[in-house]
Amino acid sequence: MDKDLNEHKKHLKGKTPGQSEIEMTQLVLPNDTNILGNLLGGQLMHWIDIAGALAASRHSNKVVATVALDSLDFRHPVRLGEMVILKARLTWVGRTSMEVSVDVYAENMKTGNTILTNKAFITFVALDDDGKPTEVPPLILETEEERRVYKEAEKRREYRLKRREKE
Ligand SMILES: CC(C)(COP(=O)(O)OP(=O)(O)OC[C@H]1O[C@@H](n2cnc3c(N)ncnc32)[C@H](O)[C@@H]1OP(=O)(O)O)[C@@H](O)C(=O)NCCC(=O)NCCS
Repeated sequence: MDKDLNEHKKHLKGKTPGQSEIEMTQLVLPNDTNILGNLLGGQLMHWIDIAGALAASRHSNKVVATVALDSLDFRHPVRLGEMVILKARLTWVGRTSMEVSVDVYAENMKTGNTILTNKAFITFVALDDDGKPTEVPPLILETEEERRVYKEAEKRREYRLKRREKE
């Protein structure tokens, strides 16, 4: 992590990605599906947003606002009656913002089969009691995999900020 950023955050106790990890399970009910019995994309995006926000709130101990959701691919349909498991984990933190990855799995209860159906990256900003962006604790990276994921997140952030400038 950037040296100046760490200097700035000296008073905040860092946390590992594992300390704020969230696993959320949902059952796909008729109201969540289209007329073919497949999970609605909007409903899935809602669950992804909630799982991601819970991880970001757990890391920052703050209310968080979603500022960016990267493109979301729908790789496999999720069927009525299946379980949806969402695993949310911090990948990167800035001064007030945090990136969270959310992996979505569908589990068929009859066969026990589980497949990865979606992967999303969402950026949240921690807000103080006045709704203003506020500092978040540093992210403590313990494994090679966490350091690799962090570097990839930095590239995505650069891309997002460029996109934001253009808009
Ligand atoms: C969250 C909000 C208060 C932040 O205000 P802002 O003027 O954008 O604040 P800043 O420019 O200081 O940005 C705050 C942080 O967000 C980051 N950020 C803002 N927009 C971003 C984007 N599109 N992609 C990635 N990061 C972004 C900034 O880089 C900064 O990060 P850092 O502190 O880690 O360096 C404001 O953007 C907002 O209200 N947005 C709407 C949120 C919302 O309604 N979400 C849906 C419901 S939760």
